[in-house]
This record gives sequence, C-alpha cells and structure tokens, in this order.
Amino acid sequence: MYKSVKMKKILVTGGAGNVGSALVEKLIEKEDNFVVIADDLSTGFLYKLPKNHKERWRFEKCDVNNESLLSALMKTEKFDYVFHFAAVVGVQRTQEHPISVLRDIDGIKNILDLSINSSVKHVYFSSSSEVYGEPVELPQHEYKTPLNSRVPYAVVKNVAECFFRSYEQEYGLNYTIFRFFNTYGPNQSTDFVVSRFLAAALKGQDITIYGDGSQTRTFSYVDDTIDTCLACHYQNKIINDVINIGSDKLVTINELAQLVISMTNSKSKVIFLPPLKEGDMTRRQPDNSKMRELLGRELIPLDEGIKRMMNDKNYLASIGV
Ligand SMILES: NC(=O)c1ccc[n+]([C@@H]2O[C@H](COP(=O)([O-])OP(=O)(O)OC[C@H]3O[C@@H](n4cnc5c(N)ncnc54)[C@H](O)[C@@H]3O)[C@@H](O)[C@H]2O)c1
Repeated sequence: MYKSVKMKKILVTGGAGNVGSALVEKLIEKEDNFVVIADDLSTGFLYKLPKNHKERWRFEKCDVNNESLLSALMKTEKFDYVFHFAAVVGVQRTQEHPISVLRDIDGIKNILDLSINSSVKHVYFSSSSEVYGEPVELPQHEYKTPLNSRVPYAVVKNVAECFFRSYEQEYGLNYTIFRFFNTYGPNQSTDFVVSRFLAAALKGQDITIYGDGSQTRTFSYVDDTIDTCLACHYQNKIINDVINIGSDKLVTINELAQLVISMTNSKSKVIFLPPLKEGDMTRRQPDNSKMRELLGRELIPLDEGIKRMMNDKNYLASIGV
C-alpha cells in the first residue's frame, strides 16, 4: 500500500520485463520510493516482479497503448516520475509484427499527453542502439553519429525521441532518453542472444547462429544499465538529453557462443543458419563516455555477467534447468 505523502510515486511501464524488472528492484531499495508497475504481460512475466518490499510497489495489468486504461491509472495515482520501458521487442518479433511495433507510438503519445500539466516532473524513455542502424562509424556517438535505420522498431524509437524533444520544447516536460545497447541479465528472455545461448548450452542443445557469426555485439550487464539510469535519476543528470547505455567491448557472436560453451562445460554444437533478412546489424559499439562518468566504476565483464546468470535460481528455473 502507498503510505506516506513524502514518498515519490514512480510509474514503470514494462516493469515485468528484463530491464524494467531490474529497475523496479533497485528503485524499491529506497524506502521513499513507491512504484507502480504497468505491464500488459505480452512478453513480461509475473515471476519477474520483486519478491520483497511488497509495501513499496504494486502491479497493474495495463496496455499503455490503450489511452483510457493508462489515463485512469495516471490520473488516479498522480506520479512524480515515469520510466516508459514498455515496447514490442526482439528482432524476430518486431520483424514479424511491424504494425504492433508501430502501435507503440500510441503508448508514447499517451505517456507524454498524460504527463504534461500533471504531477509528473520527469519522464525517462528506453530508446535503443537500433536508432543508429547500420553504422557509418564506430563508436556511435549520441550527437555526431547519423541515425540510419528504416526498420519499424528503430523508426518508432527515433520518432519517440523526436516526441520527447518536442514536448519539452512546447510544454516544458523534462525527459531523459536512454539509448540502450544490448542489455542482458537473469530476467532476459531466450528471445535474446546471451540468454538463448546460455540456456541451450546448459541443456546441451544446439546453439544456432544467424549468418557466419562474425557480426559483433556489445553486452551490458543489467546492473550496469540500471545503475546508469538511476545515476541520471538521483543525480539529476542528462536532463532533456540523450545517453548511450551499453558496453563498448566488441564481441563476435562466435566468441559469445564459445565463451558460453566453455563456461558451462557444454557439449552443445554450433549450427549456422542463413542471415536474417534485415535488422541484424553487423556492427554496433557505443561511445559510452557519459555512461562511464556517471557509473564511476568499471563495467561488469561478460564472463562475470554470465557467471551471475548461471548462479541465479530464478533464471535457471525460467529456462527449466
Ligand atoms: N534489453 C535490451 O538489450 C534493449 C536494448 C535496446 C532497447 N531496449 C528497450 O528497453 C525496454 C525494455 O526491454 P526489455 O529488454 O526489458 O524487453 P522485455 O520484453 O523483457 O520487456 C518489455 C516489457 O514491456 C511489456 N509491454 C510491451 N508492450 C506493452 C504495452 N503496450 N503495454 C504494457 N506493457 C507492455 C512486456 O510485457 C514486457 O514486460 C524496451 O523499450 C526496449 O525497446 C532494450
């Protein structure tokens, strides 16, 4: 139950997902935060919700693209801060369902329209490295690197960023845009590469790679991602601005597969499939200078992050190991 008038009321959309659930866990560590998690459970799960501090959060099943549902929630609760992390995600899902992806523009507009002239002081938005598209340069810099993608998921994130800038310009609504690069952790579904490879290796199943595996990724452990978001929030940094959040260490998909196989002592074989039609960028790497400054510590190395996942009982249960 929401108790004290001094508590900060925070809406986290997509809070039953990978990144959102990790954000909620850390927000409720502070006793003056009360979090409402709004999620339609399309790719999120109730088991990802916090197990503790039950007096500091509650869950509301809500499709944020539905204006009347979101309006009822936001008008009743009178939030101080909003983290809008709900979205249709995953390369394959977003390619197969482009109209659903485009419908997320409704949710973005709903969040903004209901935040202006309200109790909301600041809105945080989860954009994506996908806005850079096929890179014209590495590393990718927040202001200098052109945004170069036409796939619906990236276009929606780009349009969203434009909405946030415009609402600040016309209505004075403060925002921060997080451009997340690949973030992995124990609550990540097996739609995504680290979790998928690790689950396959732990079960001794084949590991499948689209293309020849030479495409690179960078992998940010979810604690690094969330600690950076919260540093922005608690230190009032990156106001009305954008920040890349991700590791800058390049890893090929082949290297990831071999690392996972060796860390799990697995007998899994690597199988190569034809490359995906589009949306599987060959190279990505953030200029993460802003993130490093805010984090004030080294990023968690990939092998350490994988080790943490292997020791996480919830993750193992979620993949049936
Ligand atoms: N994890 C990454 O590597 C990564 C990279 C770039 C951007 N992002 C962005 O970060 C955010 C979180 O991604 P994630 O990796 O945690 O994915 P996720 O699928 O685990 O979480 C998304 C959550 O949003 C919910 N959701 C989707 N549509 C909704 C709607 N209309 N109304 C209410 N809830 C809805 C889902 O049920 C799910 O719980 C997304 O906006 C995503 O685009 C993530």
